[in-house]
Amino acid sequence: MKKSVLCAAAFTMLFGFTVAGGAMAEDKGPAEMTLTTEAGKKPAVFPHAAHQTSDKVSCDDCHKNLDVKKMATDKDYAHNEGCKACHKELGADTKCNTCHPKKKKAIEGC
Ligand code: HEC
Ligand code: HEC
Ligand code: HEC
Repeated sequence: MKKSVLCAAAFTMLFGFTVAGGAMAEDKGPAEMTLTTEAGKKPAVFPHAAHQTSDKVSCDDCHKNLDVKKMATDKDYAHNEGCKACHKELGADTKCNTCHPKKKKAIEGC
């Protein structure tokens, strides 16, 4: 009895993972992100969806050829190898406020 319950649980888990794996292949992630380092001094806006629809970049350019986690949290990597380096290479905007828009003076809800 116990054994068959365990087997059923194992099957459910396996099946669950298969379904989740299938769904992940379709997952495009968030459309917009705000990226910060641990210090959080200069958040960057990242229009993920705009990069996905751009014909200049592919998923693999970032997700295979770069370290997306590092690109989202490490200043030097984001500037020298990730975001800014690619912008420079492809002639996209490299002005600071492209990625770090100036804070609005009035903070909503404060
Ligand atoms: C210009 C670079 C870039 C491109 C192009 C890009 N992504 Fe991302 N993607 C990122 C970054 C950066 C993150 C955030 C990673 C983090 O916070 O750890 C992310 C996050 C994600 C996530 C959330 C889960 C995760 O891995 O953190 C998914 C899912 C995802 N991307 C799918 C895609 C798909 C599918 C495409 C192509 C249609 C794509 N991305 C194109 C940079 C990119
Ligand atoms: C692999 C190349 C590549 C990487 C990596 C990349 N970008 Fe871009 N990005 C582009 C290109 C190309 C454009 C211009 C869009 C176009 O011309 O299709 C762009 C446009 C933008 C824009 C302006 C969108 C607009 O409204 O015009 C922002 C903001 C931006 N990127 C932020 C980032 C940030 C932040 C990162 C890192 C997390 C990043 N990008 C990583 C290639 C890249
Ligand atoms: C193409 C996008 C892009 C451009 C252009 C860019 N940055 Fe960044 N920057 C990032 C990303 C992504 C990070 C890491 C996540 C974060 O903290 O915003 C970062 C991090 C930083 C940090 C670290 C903040 C902290 O919390 O420690 C500073 C400071 C900074 N950038 C300043 C600048 C300045 C000054 C310029 C112009 C000379 C510039 N950046 C241009 C994307 C960019």
